[in-house]
Amino acid sequence: MKMMITGGAGFVGSHVVKRLQGDHDILIVDSLHPYYSPGWKQRRLNSMAGYKNIQWRKVDICSQEALEALYASFQPDCVIHLAAIPGVQPSLEDPAAYVDADVKGTVNLLSLAAKYQTSRFVFASSSSVYGTDVAGPSREDEELQPVSPYAAAKAAGEMFCRTYQRLYHLPITIVRPFTVYGPEQRPDMALWKFAMKIYHGEPITVYKGRIGRDYTYVNDIADGIAKAALLPAARNRTYNLGNGKVVPIQDLVLEIENALERKAMIEWRDLPLGDVPMTWADTTRAEQELGFRAMVPITEGIRRFADWFLQEGVKR
Ligand SMILES: NC(=O)c1ccc[n+]([C@@H]2O[C@H](COP(=O)([O-])OP(=O)(O)OC[C@H]3O[C@@H](n4cnc5c(N)ncnc54)[C@H](O)[C@@H]3O)[C@@H](O)[C@H]2O)c1
Repeated sequence: MKMMITGGAGFVGSHVVKRLQGDHDILIVDSLHPYYSPGWKQRRLNSMAGYKNIQWRKVDICSQEALEALYASFQPDCVIHLAAIPGVQPSLEDPAAYVDADVKGTVNLLSLAAKYQTSRFVFASSSSVYGTDVAGPSREDEELQPVSPYAAAKAAGEMFCRTYQRLYHLPITIVRPFTVYGPEQRPDMALWKFAMKIYHGEPITVYKGRIGRDYTYVNDIADGIAKAALLPAARNRTYNLGNGKVVPIQDLVLEIENALERKAMIEWRDLPLGDVPMTWADTTRAEQELGFRAMVPITEGIRRFADWFLQEGVKR
Protein backbone atom coordinates (compact mmCIF):
# COMPACT_ATOMS: atom_id res chain seq x y z
CA MET A 1 0.00 0.00 0.00
CA LYS A 2 1.18 3.59 -0.68
CA MET A 3 1.23 5.33 2.68
CA MET A 4 1.76 9.00 3.40
CA ILE A 5 2.87 9.43 7.02
CA THR A 6 2.80 13.03 8.19
CA GLY A 7 5.00 13.77 11.21
CA GLY A 8 7.07 10.67 10.40
CA ALA A 9 10.24 12.30 11.76
CA GLY A 10 8.59 12.75 15.16
CA PHE A 11 8.71 10.59 18.28
CA VAL A 12 5.57 8.54 17.56
CA GLY A 13 5.81 8.86 13.77
CA SER A 14 9.31 7.38 13.55
CA HIS A 15 8.09 4.29 15.47
CA VAL A 16 5.05 4.01 13.17
CA VAL A 17 7.37 4.12 10.14
CA LYS A 18 9.55 1.42 11.73
CA ARG A 19 6.46 -0.73 12.36
CA LEU A 20 5.18 -0.45 8.76
CA GLN A 21 8.41 -0.36 6.73
CA GLY A 22 9.20 -3.29 4.50
CA ASP A 23 5.61 -4.05 3.56
CA HIS A 24 4.56 -0.66 2.18
CA ASP A 25 5.68 2.20 -0.01
CA ILE A 26 6.08 5.04 2.50
CA LEU A 27 6.32 8.79 1.99
CA ILE A 28 7.16 10.77 5.13
CA VAL A 29 5.97 14.38 5.13
CA ASP A 30 7.53 16.47 7.89
CA SER A 31 8.57 20.12 8.17
CA LEU A 32 11.08 19.40 10.98
CA HIS A 33 9.16 21.95 13.03
CA PRO A 34 11.37 23.74 15.61
CA TYR A 35 9.04 23.00 18.57
CA TYR A 36 12.04 20.93 19.67
CA SER A 37 15.37 20.22 18.01
CA PRO A 38 15.05 19.61 14.24
CA GLY A 39 18.44 17.85 14.65
CA TRP A 40 16.71 15.08 16.63
CA LYS A 41 14.15 14.67 13.88
CA GLN A 42 16.83 14.59 11.18
CA ARG A 43 18.69 11.95 13.20
CA ARG A 44 15.56 9.78 13.30
CA LEU A 45 15.23 10.12 9.52
CA ASN A 46 18.91 9.22 9.09
CA SER A 47 18.35 6.07 11.14
CA MET A 48 15.79 4.96 8.53
CA ALA A 49 18.35 5.07 5.69
CA GLY A 50 18.47 1.26 5.48
CA TYR A 51 14.72 0.85 5.10
CA LYS A 52 13.30 -0.09 1.69
CA ASN A 53 10.72 1.96 -0.19
CA ILE A 54 10.90 4.98 2.08
CA GLN A 55 11.26 8.59 1.03
CA TRP A 56 10.74 11.81 2.90
CA ARG A 57 9.95 15.37 1.88
CA LYS A 58 10.37 18.50 3.93
CA VAL A 59 6.93 20.00 3.44
CA ASP A 60 4.76 22.06 5.78
CA ILE A 61 1.20 20.71 5.83
CA CYS A 62 -0.01 24.31 6.17
CA SER A 63 1.41 25.08 2.68
CA GLN A 64 -1.50 23.87 0.60
CA GLU A 65 0.28 24.31 -2.74
CA ALA A 66 3.41 22.36 -1.83
CA LEU A 67 1.31 19.70 -0.11
CA GLU A 68 -0.95 19.26 -3.12
CA ALA A 69 1.99 18.95 -5.53
CA LEU A 70 3.36 16.14 -3.36
CA TYR A 71 -0.04 14.50 -2.85
CA ALA A 72 -0.86 14.55 -6.56
CA SER A 73 2.44 12.93 -7.50
CA PHE A 74 2.40 10.25 -4.77
CA GLN A 75 -1.37 9.52 -4.72
CA PRO A 76 -1.43 7.67 -1.36
CA ASP A 77 -3.87 4.83 -0.68
CA CYS A 78 -3.62 5.66 3.01
CA VAL A 79 -2.75 8.79 5.01
CA ILE A 80 -1.56 8.44 8.60
CA HIS A 81 -1.76 11.98 9.90
CA LEU A 82 0.47 12.51 12.95
CA ALA A 83 2.02 15.91 12.17
CA ALA A 84 1.08 18.45 14.81
CA ILE A 85 2.54 20.82 17.33
CA PRO A 86 2.13 18.80 20.52
CA GLY A 87 2.30 19.96 24.14
CA VAL A 88 -0.29 21.44 26.45
CA GLN A 89 1.48 24.31 28.24
CA PRO A 90 2.98 25.99 25.12
CA SER A 91 -0.51 25.97 23.59
CA LEU A 92 -1.64 28.44 26.26
CA GLU A 93 1.17 30.81 25.19
CA ASP A 94 0.56 30.62 21.44
CA PRO A 95 -2.87 29.11 20.69
CA ALA A 96 -2.93 30.45 17.13
CA ALA A 97 0.09 28.32 16.20
CA TYR A 98 -1.95 25.25 17.21
CA VAL A 99 -4.89 26.36 15.10
CA ASP A 100 -2.50 26.65 12.14
CA ALA A 101 -0.60 23.38 12.42
CA ASP A 102 -3.13 21.15 14.14
CA VAL A 103 -6.42 22.38 12.63
CA LYS A 104 -5.55 24.07 9.31
CA GLY A 105 -2.95 21.43 8.47
CA THR A 106 -5.50 18.69 9.17
CA VAL A 107 -8.13 20.39 7.00
CA ASN A 108 -5.60 20.75 4.16
CA LEU A 109 -4.93 17.02 4.27
CA LEU A 110 -8.61 16.11 4.49
CA SER A 111 -9.37 18.29 1.46
CA LEU A 112 -6.69 16.50 -0.55
CA ALA A 113 -7.88 13.09 0.65
CA ALA A 114 -11.38 14.02 -0.57
CA LYS A 115 -10.13 15.40 -3.89
CA TYR A 116 -7.94 12.38 -4.66
CA GLN A 117 -10.42 9.88 -3.16
CA THR A 118 -7.96 8.39 -0.71
CA SER A 119 -9.36 5.14 0.63
CA ARG A 120 -7.95 5.28 4.17
CA PHE A 121 -7.23 8.14 6.57
CA VAL A 122 -6.03 7.79 10.17
CA PHE A 123 -5.99 10.90 12.35
CA ALA A 124 -3.99 11.08 15.59
CA SER A 125 -6.07 12.93 18.14
CA SER A 126 -5.18 12.78 21.84
CA SER A 127 -6.40 11.60 25.25
CA SER A 128 -6.33 15.26 26.27
CA VAL A 129 -9.71 15.79 24.54
CA TYR A 130 -11.39 14.12 27.56
CA GLY A 131 -10.52 16.99 29.92
CA THR A 132 -10.34 17.11 33.71
CA ASP A 133 -13.36 15.11 34.81
CA VAL A 134 -11.79 11.61 34.77
CA ALA A 135 -13.33 9.48 37.53
CA GLY A 136 -12.91 6.16 35.69
CA PRO A 137 -11.60 4.92 32.35
CA SER A 138 -12.59 7.28 29.49
CA ARG A 139 -14.75 5.78 26.74
CA GLU A 140 -14.74 6.95 23.15
CA ASP A 141 -18.38 8.05 23.18
CA GLU A 142 -18.00 10.40 26.16
CA GLU A 143 -18.52 14.13 25.74
CA LEU A 144 -15.24 15.89 24.91
CA GLN A 145 -14.20 18.59 27.37
CA PRO A 146 -10.90 20.07 26.23
CA VAL A 147 -9.23 22.41 28.73
CA SER A 148 -6.25 23.62 26.66
CA PRO A 149 -5.89 25.07 23.17
CA TYR A 150 -3.92 21.95 22.20
CA ALA A 151 -6.81 19.70 23.26
CA ALA A 152 -9.31 22.02 21.57
CA ALA A 153 -7.29 21.87 18.34
CA LYS A 154 -7.33 18.05 18.48
CA ALA A 155 -11.10 18.04 19.16
CA ALA A 156 -11.56 20.44 16.22
CA GLY A 157 -9.46 18.12 14.04
CA GLU A 158 -11.76 15.24 15.02
CA MET A 159 -14.83 17.32 14.15
CA PHE A 160 -13.39 18.14 10.71
CA CYS A 161 -12.62 14.45 10.16
CA ARG A 162 -16.22 13.48 10.86
CA THR A 163 -17.52 16.36 8.70
CA TYR A 164 -15.38 15.30 5.72
CA GLN A 165 -16.43 11.70 6.25
CA ARG A 166 -20.10 12.74 5.96
CA LEU A 167 -19.53 15.24 3.15
CA TYR A 168 -17.28 13.18 0.90
CA HIS A 169 -17.72 9.61 2.22
CA LEU A 170 -14.08 9.53 3.29
CA PRO A 171 -13.36 6.50 5.52
CA ILE A 172 -11.61 8.00 8.56
CA THR A 173 -10.31 6.29 11.69
CA ILE A 174 -9.48 8.49 14.68
CA VAL A 175 -7.05 7.27 17.32
CA ARG A 176 -6.57 8.86 20.74
CA PRO A 177 -3.13 7.91 22.10
CA PHE A 178 -2.62 8.11 25.88
CA THR A 179 0.67 9.55 27.22
CA VAL A 180 3.23 7.88 24.98
CA TYR A 181 6.71 7.08 26.30
CA GLY A 182 9.82 5.17 25.29
CA PRO A 183 13.11 5.56 23.41
CA GLU A 184 13.28 8.80 21.34
CA GLN A 185 10.98 10.42 23.93
CA ARG A 186 10.03 14.02 23.24
CA PRO A 187 12.14 16.35 25.43
CA ASP A 188 9.20 18.51 26.55
CA MET A 189 7.44 15.57 28.23
CA ALA A 190 7.58 14.87 31.98
CA LEU A 191 9.43 11.56 31.67
CA TRP A 192 12.29 13.15 29.74
CA LYS A 193 12.51 16.17 32.07
CA PHE A 194 12.44 13.96 35.17
CA ALA A 195 15.12 11.61 33.80
CA MET A 196 17.42 14.49 32.80
CA LYS A 197 17.09 16.26 36.16
CA ILE A 198 17.36 13.13 38.29
CA TYR A 199 20.44 12.10 36.29
CA HIS A 200 22.08 15.51 36.89
CA GLY A 201 21.03 15.71 40.56
CA GLU A 202 18.66 18.63 39.99
CA PRO A 203 15.20 18.97 41.62
CA ILE A 204 12.13 17.92 39.64
CA THR A 205 8.74 19.65 39.76
CA VAL A 206 5.86 17.33 40.68
CA TYR A 207 2.26 18.48 40.80
CA LYS A 208 0.24 18.12 44.01
CA GLY A 209 -2.96 16.07 44.24
CA ARG A 210 -4.12 12.81 42.70
CA ILE A 211 -2.03 13.05 39.54
CA GLY A 212 -1.61 10.08 37.20
CA ARG A 213 -1.25 9.14 33.56
CA ASP A 214 -2.10 6.12 31.48
CA TYR A 215 1.49 5.70 30.23
CA THR A 216 1.60 3.68 27.02
CA TYR A 217 4.79 2.33 25.50
CA VAL A 218 5.56 3.79 22.08
CA ASN A 219 5.77 0.42 20.27
CA ASP A 220 2.29 -0.45 21.53
CA ILE A 221 0.97 2.88 20.23
CA ALA A 222 2.72 2.37 16.87
CA ASP A 223 1.16 -1.09 16.64
CA GLY A 224 -2.32 0.33 17.38
CA ILE A 225 -1.91 3.02 14.72
CA ALA A 226 -0.69 0.43 12.20
CA LYS A 227 -3.66 -1.81 13.01
CA ALA A 228 -6.05 1.13 12.48
CA ALA A 229 -4.43 1.83 9.09
CA LEU A 230 -4.50 -1.80 7.99
CA LEU A 231 -8.07 -2.73 8.94
CA PRO A 232 -9.44 -5.00 6.17
CA ALA A 233 -12.22 -2.47 5.59
CA ALA A 234 -11.57 1.08 6.81
CA ARG A 235 -14.03 2.05 9.55
CA ASN A 236 -15.37 5.42 10.61
CA ARG A 237 -14.55 4.78 14.24
CA THR A 238 -12.63 6.35 17.11
CA TYR A 239 -10.29 4.28 19.26
CA ASN A 240 -8.51 4.88 22.55
CA LEU A 241 -4.94 3.59 22.44
CA GLY A 242 -3.79 3.20 26.02
CA ASN A 243 -2.49 0.77 28.57
CA GLY A 244 -5.74 0.87 30.55
CA LYS A 245 -3.93 1.55 33.86
CA VAL A 246 -3.17 4.77 35.69
CA VAL A 247 0.39 5.20 36.95
CA PRO A 248 0.41 7.71 39.84
CA ILE A 249 3.10 10.35 39.33
CA GLN A 250 4.96 9.24 42.48
CA ASP A 251 5.19 5.70 41.06
CA LEU A 252 6.59 7.05 37.79
CA VAL A 253 9.30 8.89 39.75
CA LEU A 254 10.11 5.66 41.64
CA GLU A 255 10.38 3.72 38.37
CA ILE A 256 12.82 6.31 36.98
CA GLU A 257 14.86 6.33 40.21
CA ASN A 258 15.14 2.53 40.07
CA ALA A 259 16.03 2.44 36.38
CA LEU A 260 18.66 5.19 36.66
CA GLU A 261 19.81 4.11 40.15
CA ARG A 262 19.62 7.70 41.39
CA LYS A 263 17.39 9.50 43.91
CA ALA A 264 15.06 12.32 42.95
CA MET A 265 14.74 15.66 44.76
CA ILE A 266 11.13 16.79 44.53
CA GLU A 267 9.62 20.28 44.53
CA TRP A 268 5.82 20.17 44.84
CA ARG A 269 3.69 22.65 42.87
CA ASP A 270 0.00 23.14 42.06
CA LEU A 271 -1.24 21.69 38.79
CA PRO A 272 -0.96 24.47 36.18
CA LEU A 273 -3.91 25.75 34.18
CA GLY A 274 -4.60 23.64 31.08
CA ASP A 275 -3.17 20.40 32.49
CA VAL A 276 -5.45 17.50 33.46
CA PRO A 277 -4.92 15.58 36.72
CA MET A 278 -5.45 12.16 35.22
CA THR A 279 -5.75 10.20 31.97
CA TRP A 280 -7.17 6.68 31.87
CA ALA A 281 -8.19 4.72 28.79
CA ASP A 282 -11.02 2.28 28.36
CA THR A 283 -9.55 0.17 25.55
CA THR A 284 -12.42 -2.30 25.15
CA ARG A 285 -13.36 -1.04 21.69
CA ALA A 286 -9.77 -1.04 20.37
CA GLU A 287 -9.28 -4.57 21.73
CA GLN A 288 -12.48 -5.88 20.16
CA GLU A 289 -12.33 -4.11 16.81
CA LEU A 290 -8.60 -3.57 16.16
CA GLY A 291 -7.13 -6.48 18.08
CA PHE A 292 -5.09 -3.87 19.96
CA ARG A 293 -3.55 -4.71 23.32
CA ALA A 294 -0.76 -2.82 25.08
CA MET A 295 1.92 -5.40 25.84
CA VAL A 296 4.68 -3.51 27.67
CA PRO A 297 4.22 -2.99 31.44
CA ILE A 298 5.49 0.26 32.93
CA THR A 299 8.56 -1.19 34.72
CA GLU A 300 9.77 -2.86 31.52
CA GLY A 301 8.98 0.22 29.41
CA ILE A 302 10.85 2.55 31.76
CA ARG A 303 13.81 0.14 31.76
CA ARG A 304 13.90 0.24 27.94
CA PHE A 305 13.58 4.03 28.01
CA ALA A 306 16.39 4.29 30.59
CA ASP A 307 18.70 2.03 28.52
CA TRP A 308 18.21 4.34 25.54
CA PHE A 309 18.45 7.47 27.70
CA LEU A 310 21.78 6.45 29.27
CA GLN A 311 23.29 5.35 25.97
CA GLU A 312 22.07 8.12 23.75
CA GLY A 313 19.42 10.49 25.09
CA VAL A 314 21.54 12.03 27.80
CA LYS A 315 24.11 13.21 25.23
CA ARG A 316 21.51 15.21 23.29
N1 LIG B 1 3.46 11.78 22.49
C1 LIG B 1 2.29 11.67 23.09
O1 LIG B 1 2.21 11.36 24.29
C2 LIG B 1 1.01 11.90 22.32
C3 LIG B 1 -0.21 11.66 22.98
C4 LIG B 1 -1.39 11.88 22.29
C5 LIG B 1 -1.37 12.30 20.99
N2 LIG B 1 -0.18 12.54 20.37
C6 LIG B 1 -0.22 13.00 18.98
O2 LIG B 1 0.60 12.12 18.20
C7 LIG B 1 1.23 12.86 17.15
C8 LIG B 1 2.73 12.70 17.21
O3 LIG B 1 3.21 13.22 18.47
P1 LIG B 1 4.73 13.13 18.89
O4 LIG B 1 4.78 12.97 20.35
O5 LIG B 1 5.44 12.17 18.01
O6 LIG B 1 5.22 14.61 18.54
P2 LIG B 1 6.51 15.08 17.69
O7 LIG B 1 6.58 16.57 17.86
O8 LIG B 1 7.69 14.28 18.06
O9 LIG B 1 6.08 14.73 16.20
C9 LIG B 1 5.28 15.59 15.41
C10 LIG B 1 5.98 15.77 14.07
O10 LIG B 1 5.15 16.61 13.26
C11 LIG B 1 5.99 17.52 12.56
N3 LIG B 1 5.23 18.73 12.23
C12 LIG B 1 4.73 19.66 13.10
N4 LIG B 1 4.10 20.63 12.42
C13 LIG B 1 4.19 20.30 11.10
C14 LIG B 1 3.73 20.93 9.91
N5 LIG B 1 3.06 22.09 9.94
N6 LIG B 1 4.00 20.34 8.71
C15 LIG B 1 4.68 19.15 8.66
N7 LIG B 1 5.16 18.52 9.78
C16 LIG B 1 4.91 19.10 10.98
C17 LIG B 1 7.14 17.80 13.51
O11 LIG B 1 8.30 18.27 12.82
C18 LIG B 1 7.34 16.45 14.19
O12 LIG B 1 8.33 15.68 13.55
C19 LIG B 1 0.77 14.31 17.32
O13 LIG B 1 -0.35 14.52 16.50
C20 LIG B 1 0.38 14.38 18.78
O14 LIG B 1 -0.56 15.40 19.02
C21 LIG B 1 1.00 12.33 21.02
